[in-house]
Amino acid sequence: MDNFAGRIAVVTGGGTGMGRDLVHQLAAEGCHVAACDVSMGNLTATRESALAGAPDGTRVTVHQCDVSDEAQVMGFRSELMAQHETDHVNLVFNNAGIGGGGSFVEDERPAWERTFDVCWGGVYLCSRAFVPLLVASDEGWLTNTASINGFWATVGPHRPHTAYSAAKFAVKGFSEALINDFRLHAPHVGVSVVMPGHIGTDIVLNSMVVHGGEASPEMTEIGNAFRTMAPTTASQAATIILDGVRARRWRILVGDDAHIIDDHVRDTPEQAYEPEFFQKIQQAGALDAFPV
Ligand SMILES: NC(=O)c1ccc[n+]([C@@H]2O[C@H](COP(=O)([O-])OP(=O)(O)OC[C@H]3O[C@@H](n4cnc5c(N)ncnc54)[C@H](O)[C@@H]3O)[C@@H](O)[C@H]2O)c1
Repeated sequence: MDNFAGRIAVVTGGGTGMGRDLVHQLAAEGCHVAACDVSMGNLTATRESALAGAPDGTRVTVHQCDVSDEAQVMGFRSELMAQHETDHVNLVFNNAGIGGGGSFVEDERPAWERTFDVCWGGVYLCSRAFVPLLVASDEGWLTNTASINGFWATVGPHRPHTAYSAAKFAVKGFSEALINDFRLHAPHVGVSVVMPGHIGTDIVLNSMVVHGGEASPEMTEIGNAFRTMAPTTASQAATIILDGVRARRWRILVGDDAHIIDDHVRDTPEQAYEPEFFQKIQQAGALDAFPV
């Protein structure tokens, strides 16, 4: 699918960050988009800015939906089918995600499970809901956002990162296993797994809201630094993702840092969780401005 004009796309987590930029760039090509998020305020802003840059006749609909709740996901699907008057979709971007639940030892179980349920459960439930609509299309593509933490389960030696990494490994494994499943049972549908490095978004601050927490001044500073010091913007990331889908690539690494870490983990897997390994990738230019 090298042209998205006239196609129908689903984007989860379209309220901010990479999801918002995916909506903008898809709509700018004349692709109809149905975006969901937990924040209707952010979604409404996404819709307005997307339509401002889209050709006449492009439909952008927005839907409040928590992707970890199956009833809400099925409600999102029904709204989409009614509002776009369709029995199929061509593109699904399982993008919604949050951080949190870093320590399996210290953190409260609800926080751990919330992160896992959004990052893995959201991909699972939205795939259950929307893969049949991809299969019903003449050409479909599923794009699941994992992370560098889908193949490397750490953000450095000083902070555990268990729930997010476990979920993102699941997203990567599921996506890779679907390659053959689709080839056998739905050859007109393909799949990509997206593995971003450090991308300049508000994910640190947004995750605190989803977990129901108040951002302390220290966490607000970290969250702002996470966004402003990233080597790749959300808009650049969305362009890399869409180019990868157009090229039908199953693995889409996003950012030079993601490529550096991928190379290093493959070269010396036994070293991947040693403190010296983190120093090595930083010296190579990856995560050298990573504030958490
Ligand atoms: N920013 C990074 O450095 C980075 C790196 C690797 C992977 N990722 C992944 O990229 C994806 C997009 O993240 P981002 O950085 O653009 O962050 P972001 O916080 O800007 O965007 C994520 C969006 O998902 C929404 N969301 C959260 N929980 C939801 C739920 N239960 N249901 C529906 N929507 C929900 C948020 O409200 C937000 O609008 C996530 O899956 C994230 O894990 C981000």
